[in-house]
Amino acid sequence: MQTILITGATGNIGREVIESLVALNVKAEIIAAVRDIAKEKDTFMKFTHLSYRSYDFENPQTFKSAFKDVNTLFLLRPPHISKVDKVFRPLLEIAKSSGIERIIFLSVQGAEKSSLIPHNRIERLINEFGFDYIFVRPSYFMQNLTTALRDDITEHRRIVLPSKKAQFNWIDVKDIGLATAHLIRDFATYKNQSFEITGSENLNFKQVADELSRLISKKVEFQSINPFRFYFRKRREGLNHSFALVMTLLHSLPRLQEPPEITNDYKNITGREPSTLQEFIHREKKALLP
Ligand SMILES: NC(=O)c1ccc[n+]([C@@H]2O[C@H](COP(=O)([O-])OP(=O)(O)OC[C@H]3O[C@@H](n4cnc5c(N)ncnc54)[C@H](OP(=O)(O)O)[C@@H]3O)[C@@H](O)[C@H]2O)c1
Repeated sequence: MQTILITGATGNIGREVIESLVALNVKAEIIAAVRDIAKEKDTFMKFTHLSYRSYDFENPQTFKSAFKDVNTLFLLRPPHISKVDKVFRPLLEIAKSSGIERIIFLSVQGAEKSSLIPHNRIERLINEFGFDYIFVRPSYFMQNLTTALRDDITEHRRIVLPSKKAQFNWIDVKDIGLATAHLIRDFATYKNQSFEITGSENLNFKQVADELSRLISKKVEFQSINPFRFYFRKRREGLNHSFALVMTLLHSLPRLQEPPEITNDYKNITGREPSTLQEFIHREKKALLP
């Protein structure tokens, strides 16, 4: 039987991966790798068959016991962790020596083209260690509107980013969770490949602000600022250097790039159409209002 360890289980994607693995009735032991088991048992109360292991990316002493008898690892990079050699090299070394064979890594669309971003180095390390792998490379999360950008939207009715007219491809995290659960379930079919999980729309932030304004009946402005100002704004808000830098690059590099590619990977894997931004805003309307 597959034993699947889910890192980042309490976050946007991890939670949806668990939800979809359970919904697809995948025959496997599913284990949430969490920092605080007692607390998260409440979070995941409805998943009565879920197991738990104590795990901290920043404490390598937790790796060995977390990886014991696991054959499949769903791995992500928490947004504030960028030190690949310090965190991910020892993690992968211990994963290998613990007998983990398969890694499904949550990367990002275009990771293979940009050696600046940590996902690129993590993908290369996974290859270097010789794991069977699947790289899930999603586009821009719709849920950024209800997490990182939410306070500005609900309190100030604005979105402030260094993105000018750059286009982003918008994908619902629920769709990423579903596609990932299919990839885990049918690993043998998809192994040693990468998948770009995209939505059906490329939109810039002015278009998104206009769509938001229309659907929540409150005017939301988009303000584009210089990348340096944005970086220091994020630092003042308390983000560490790497997180602020990744946020700045994520929202400013697309200005220099072609619009993101829209792929059929989601439909090919799940047999469904991805959610539209309009559907997402309708569903999450409450979270987008003050
Ligand atoms: N946002 C986007 O548009 C986008 C697009 C493509 C790819 N991505 C990639 O997606 C990834 C983020 O995924 P996400 O949105 O699901 O993340 P998230 O919601 O921020 O969740 C982060 C998860 O990591 C866990 N975590 C943080 N520090 C930890 C530690 N030291 N030890 C153990 N667990 C720890 C958190 O657990 P706690 O609950 O304990 O904090 C949480 O479960 C990033 O690599 C990002 O680059 C993002």
